[in-house]
Amino acid sequence: MAASEKTAFRFLSRGPEATHAVARALSSVLDCGGVVIALRGPLGAGKTAFVKGLAEGLGLDPGIVSSPTFVVSQEYPCLARGVRLVHLDLYRLERTAELEATGFLDVLDGESIVAIEWADRLPDALPSDRLEIDLAASVELGEKVREISVVATGLVAESVMRRWGLCLGVAGTVELENVACP
Ligand SMILES: Nc1ncnc2c1ncn2[C@@H]1O[C@H](COP(=O)(O)OP(=O)(O)OP(=O)(O)O)[C@@H](O)[C@H]1O
Ligand SMILES: [Mg+2]
Repeated sequence: MAASEKTAFRFLSRGPEATHAVARALSSVLDCGGVVIALRGPLGAGKTAFVKGLAEGLGLDPGIVSSPTFVVSQEYPCLARGVRLVHLDLYRLERTAELEATGFLDVLDGESIVAIEWADRLPDALPSDRLEIDLAASVELGEKVREISVVATGLVAESVMRRWGLCLGVAGTVELENVACP
């Protein structure tokens, strides 16, 4: 088993608030940039909801966050934390060159928290060290239920993931319905 698989975990979110809370907890352990969060899942899975929670945890107004489907990239400086949140949406992109034209390589600068919706559109364009977050609706369990699976693919992501898990008081595969947040 790869090292990263040992720290994989899965949340069962029962509503947008729970997804926000899990993401807020993640941003609370992101004390600096240099982290890439690859969000995957179909339309309406909750990728933007997750980024709203990240933004909120960074002291930003979650209301300003929406899928940057047409502009591809949106940046939110978080002055209080000395980082910036970069929110990308690859839904409309077909080639790595299109992504690079947005200045993508510049935001992999160690000062940005980079959250990418539809990250599976251009997997080869992404850095190898990333936190992969899959969101899936579960019709059997209810309209508002989302399975959120997380895997780290490198050392930075692994370290973030361990601190995130500690913050949430979890390790391994867990089910969280009411996530206590810091
Ligand atoms: N458990 C949940 N977690 C997140 N969102 C949920 C949940 N239950 C219901 N929702 C609803 O699902 C929708 C998720 O929309 P969101 O814009 O986050 O999806 P998305 O994955 O970003 O879609 P797109 O690919 O179109 O950008 C919202 O309307 C949200 O209120
Ligand atoms: Mg979205």
